[in-house]
Amino acid sequence: MSKETITRRTFLKVGGTSVAATAAVIVRPACAAAPAAVAAPQTSHTLLPYVPKMVASAGQLAQGTPLQFTYPDASSPCVAVKLGAAAPGGVGPNKDIVAYSVMCTHMGCPVAFDSGTNTFKCGCHYSMFDAEKSGQMIAGQATENLPRIRLSYDEKTGKISATGIDGMLYGRQANVL
Ligand code: FES
Repeated sequence: MSKETITRRTFLKVGGTSVAATAAVIVRPACAAAPAAVAAPQTSHTLLPYVPKMVASAGQLAQGTPLQFTYPDASSPCVAVKLGAAAPGGVGPNKDIVAYSVMCTHMGCPVAFDSGTNTFKCGCHYSMFDAEKSGQMIAGQATENLPRIRLSYDEKTGKISATGIDGMLYGRQANVL
């Protein structure tokens, strides 16, 4: 078997040709169609689905009296409340039944419902949230609205179910763990 010797000049010629050929393959002609956009990965929230959970029958709720439940799991206390006037996301015959997480978005203290003003108030640093306006923060240290529990209403049975959450529960990186 003969042993071939490659001169430095030959090596540079062959190497240069290979690089040029590779570049020709990589460079896309200007007339070619642009590739479809690739969706950026979702990193801000969970991709797991919420599991619907029955909360109460509409007839169980008395105006201004919160009904406690947990959603989406046992460590997330919530209340459903009948406001007496239709509200965004409200369900029931009068679309006035809403539900919220009761963990303050500031530092997680429990908020209490005030039926006189239809607000949730936090006793730790006095944040207030409007139950008639999707949990909008009114005052205090919190910077996020109170997470609103999405509800569905079955007209035939009168049953109200939790189906999801708008907003991030205090202390979590994802509502569904
Ligand atoms: Fe509610 Fe601070 S924990 S205002």
